[in-house]
Amino acid sequence: MDKIRIRGGRPLRGSIVIGGAKNAALPLMTASLLTDETLTLTNLPDLADIATLTNLLVQHGVGFDVVAGAQGHGGRVVALKAADIVSTTAPYDLVRKMRASVLVLGPLLARCGVAKVSLPGGCAIGTRPVDLHIKGLTQMGARIDLEGGYILASAPEGLRGADIVFPTVSVGATENLLMAATLAKGETVLANAAREPEVTDLARCLVAMGAEIEGIGTDTLRIRGKDRLHGAEHRIVSDRIETGTYLMAAAITGGEIELVHGDLDHLQSVGRTLSAAGIEFTPTERGFRAARTNGLHGVDAMTEPYPGFPTDLQAQMMALMSVADGASMITETIFENRFMHVPELMRMGARVTVHGASALVRGVPRLTGAPVMATDLRASVSLVLAGLAAQGETVVNRVYHLDRGYERLEEKLAACGADIERLKE
Ligand code: EPU
Repeated sequence: MDKIRIRGGRPLRGSIVIGGAKNAALPLMTASLLTDETLTLTNLPDLADIATLTNLLVQHGVGFDVVAGAQGHGGRVVALKAADIVSTTAPYDLVRKMRASVLVLGPLLARCGVAKVSLPGGCAIGTRPVDLHIKGLTQMGARIDLEGGYILASAPEGLRGADIVFPTVSVGATENLLMAATLAKGETVLANAAREPEVTDLARCLVAMGAEIEGIGTDTLRIRGKDRLHGAEHRIVSDRIETGTYLMAAAITGGEIELVHGDLDHLQSVGRTLSAAGIEFTPTERGFRAARTNGLHGVDAMTEPYPGFPTDLQAQMMALMSVADGASMITETIFENRFMHVPELMRMGARVTVHGASALVRGVPRLTGAPVMATDLRASVSLVLAGLAAQGETVVNRVYHLDRGYERLEEKLAACGADIERLKE
């Protein structure tokens, strides 16, 4: 397994081009199942999770063609065409590699009237059930049984519109039901829906495919079902979590990075929190610049559904706060087990005390390099950030977690002056 070695202590300066959002790309790719015409996606990032979903879609019968490789400042252009669905089963072997595979459930059921999708199972950051996906589809008239670790869903007469109120905000359940509703008979209302920019991006693409959706960007989505959807071309929104991660790299090293294609509008709560911590933001023609010229102050952060502080930036925020002046209280409200980076950060000298869902971080003047490893994507990248600021050498093990969500991470950071390299095994 590859490792990443970092020799810390260099302020990063330069530009980083932000790619298309992984968490927008995954549902968008599954939306290709809703039509027999071609869905062309541009700005597709080259990530392990995208390859995993591609394998799943191909076995369902989706043609996946790379129309153009990554060019200049844009990601790949791909054409997905589900002319014939040859299998409505998403097997365990593929689903267990990535939970987002469950997003094929809504589209398959809506288009084919039947789907058999493996239950995703446990996960490093929490139990992550899919009960809201199942309950919503049941309200839309599907019959659902759980058998042998699989979700067996059928709707021989087709799905019908329903009024669905989510008891908690779920990105994935909103996306699954939104896609299913585009082909249901009648009107579906999704209340307390997720408003994440990735959900909005999916809704916009569905509209381009002929869907009728009102309330895009709000917590109430109203969908009028259609008999069929058609092909479309859609550019994937830029990755706000990649943007937030690299702006914290500038902040933690006392440097300055321009985030090309970065959209601060999608990071408003992060921007507010980090401004209070002493980070300066300036818009540029291509995106915006994040810089820290003076001290770094401890500030509190609590994760919440969008537009609140994203859980996918909580670990990175903790790495940053571990070298701030003063204390910071970081509270995780989305996932029950998303502090796995804490013991690893502590091995690098961070002072963190966890009480339930909150972590009290007392800033230290500097971290020291160490061999570390993490069990999920965002925890891993928080250790990279810590390594960039630490004195001495840090080796991050299990780099495959990083490859799931960060394209050419070491190249992008090295181009800004980081002493970072991948050790191949
Ligand atoms: N939940 C339920 N029942 C459900 C669905 C969700 O109880 O049926 C709970 C979850 O257990 C969790 C909360 O609701 O406590 C929110 O989960 P959500 O469904 O919103 O998460 P998700 O759709 O599984 C997506 C991202 C995650 C990101 C979360 C929260 C994708 C592919 N994944 O997951 O991204 O953390 O939303 O914003 O979009 C990552 O990229 O590293 C990552 C984990």
